[in-house]
Amino acid sequence: MAIQKGEVAILTLGDRTIELPIIVGTEGERAIDIARLRKETGLITLDPGFVNTGSCVSAITFVNGEQGILRYRGIPIEELVEKSSFVETAYLLINGRLPRQKELNRFRVLLNDSSLVHEDMHAFFQHFPRDSHPMGILSSMVTALRSFYPDLEGLSQSEEVNITLTRLLSKVRTMAAMSYKISRGHKIVYPREDLSYCANFLNMMFDSPVRPYHIDDDLVDALNAFWIIHADHEQNCSSAAVRLVGSGRVNLYAAISAGTAALWGPLHGGANQAVIEMLEDIQATGGDCEPFIKRAKDRNDPFRLMGFGHRVYKTYDPRAKIMKKIVDRVLPKVQSDPLLDVAMRLEEAATRDPYFLDHNLYPNIDFYAGIVLRAMGIPTNMFTVMFAIGRLPGWIAQWKEGAADPNWKLHRPRQIYVGRPLARYVPIEDRDEAYSAEACSYNAY
Ligand code: SDX
Repeated sequence: MAIQKGEVAILTLGDRTIELPIIVGTEGERAIDIARLRKETGLITLDPGFVNTGSCVSAITFVNGEQGILRYRGIPIEELVEKSSFVETAYLLINGRLPRQKELNRFRVLLNDSSLVHEDMHAFFQHFPRDSHPMGILSSMVTALRSFYPDLEGLSQSEEVNITLTRLLSKVRTMAAMSYKISRGHKIVYPREDLSYCANFLNMMFDSPVRPYHIDDDLVDALNAFWIIHADHEQNCSSAAVRLVGSGRVNLYAAISAGTAALWGPLHGGANQAVIEMLEDIQATGGDCEPFIKRAKDRNDPFRLMGFGHRVYKTYDPRAKIMKKIVDRVLPKVQSDPLLDVAMRLEEAATRDPYFLDHNLYPNIDFYAGIVLRAMGIPTNMFTVMFAIGRLPGWIAQWKEGAADPNWKLHRPRQIYVGRPLARYVPIEDRDEAYSAEACSYNAY
């Protein structure tokens, strides 16, 4: 990892000044290295949501939010969507370069050989309540994988990691389809050796003894593209969760389970489901987008326009542009989706609105994702699971990079305490009086 060191930042505190090194990344990003700050000044920095704070240096993914650039190991996602596959992109993210033909063939064989889920795990799926959210099932079952696939004796650490990551990449996809079939009371469909990674998923989801599933190559291509653009995105909430949990030297299954849980939220990976629910609300109230845009602009209203805005992209999310092309590819395959009309009108109205332009709020990856997934026949409550399957290579790559970093430290942020000063234990018989008086002076945080 080439990190140029050069200029310094000079911090003046009263009559003291300290110099902090500035490091420069491959694409000219600059950061003040504050590793010595507390030791030399006693101060820490405070940055809620880490808006201005980098947690690591990384060679995996590069995002330029101002220019709408996204590259995996230096390769623009537009090229990968056009020329690569999700399996090959997963190899690229995890191993740092594209695979040679033999390496790709071997990777595919390993993914196929790992695609079954231990039969004893099927009972777990059977006993989740039928209306369980698939993300809760997935997060639990990823952790459960560890119990069924403990460390293999006698293997080197890297061999162990490679087998584990291949198992995860293959079994998470199988488990997602299993949970869908079981939720509908249908027979589980097993993976097939003769199908590609994406075709296998669609077949496991939709094949049935009474209605054999027809593999549509356009939908398989669309799913490859969908998962490629979801595969990684720097230190997003869920990848940061994987790194944080991984920093405790926990096994990969547990770190991925943490990332799955982090992705579930509607402000992060759950947004693709929230977008559809919002579009359905707009449609159910007559199709007028304006009241929703009005609410989104009202600072006293916590409502957010789902699928809009991004912590990093302050222009169009390049993935949203690709997703829109995927929509054009898959929709002719199915009857037109009325929500697409609502989505396009909402995009048109919001991207012309001064509030959205002033706040740099543009459609993000999730805005059209739901339309694509609906066209594939994926149920709404599985949309975030689809995001998780796509993001898995990125989580694994981030975990691996963290684990291999010689300077890696246990993630343990500091804080500024704003609670009550030194207090004494109050015997229970004195609390009515003590706390009535104190309540006037102490604001509970
Ligand atoms: C993903 O990090 C990643 O890379 C994530 C992701 C990935 O690949 O991993 O790209 C995937 O999570 C995409 C984002 C999906 N989430 C949504 O679509 C939910 C809706 N979006 C917002 O909640 C919001 O835009 C966030 C959470 C995505 C980003 O919010 P920030 O960067 O924390 O910005 P903010 O909440 O501080 O908002 C800044 C201003 C605020 O107004 P002011 O208080 O300054 O006046 O912009 C406003 C916000 O009110 N704003 C919105 C808005 N998003 C931000 N107003 C209305 N609708 C929105 N969607």
